[in-house]
Amino acid sequence: MREKAIREDEKLRKRYEQKRELYRLLREHASDILESKNFRSTRNYIQHGSMPVQRHCIDVARQSIAISKFFHVPCNERALIRGALLHDYFLYDWHDKTRENYQMLHGFYHPGIALANASREYNLSLREKDIIKKHMWPLTVVPPRCREAWIVTTADKYCSLLETLKLRKGAGKARIRVTG
Ligand SMILES: [Fe+2]
Ligand SMILES: [Fe+2]
Repeated sequence: MREKAIREDEKLRKRYEQKRELYRLLREHASDILESKNFRSTRNYIQHGSMPVQRHCIDVARQSIAISKFFHVPCNERALIRGALLHDYFLYDWHDKTRENYQMLHGFYHPGIALANASREYNLSLREKDIIKKHMWPLTVVPPRCREAWIVTTADKYCSLLETLKLRKGAGKARIRVTG
């Protein structure tokens, strides 16, 4: 009984440490993205199930770091995190059929839209561009060219599967506070 409690404590402590490390890395490499108005607006769009796009992207960044550490893949941590955060930077509700320019084939088109949006606001490195543009591979036929993009496309599929199967849930769209 006591051993079980110790194991539980250890598990919790590890999870806490991992979260702390994630937030440290996010602050170090991407505080400009996280604090930007457009990135914050993505919490008002649903990705899959009840998961907002903002949290999906942070989850993909977290899983990408976890994959690179678990498999000891040396990579550019800054590009990995920034690319993961911006990989779904399409900035609209892809479920909304009444939207102007509604695309039936969101899966095919959104990497290009995300890349165009992100390029307007950030000075993207070649690795970051590759991550955003290829994250839907194999749907978008050309495969990733750097290991950071391979990691993010894997992390994205893993997160999307958990969200679609409702094994990972979000709180839905952020409530828009009306003031004044
Ligand atoms: Fe995507
Ligand atoms: Fe995604």
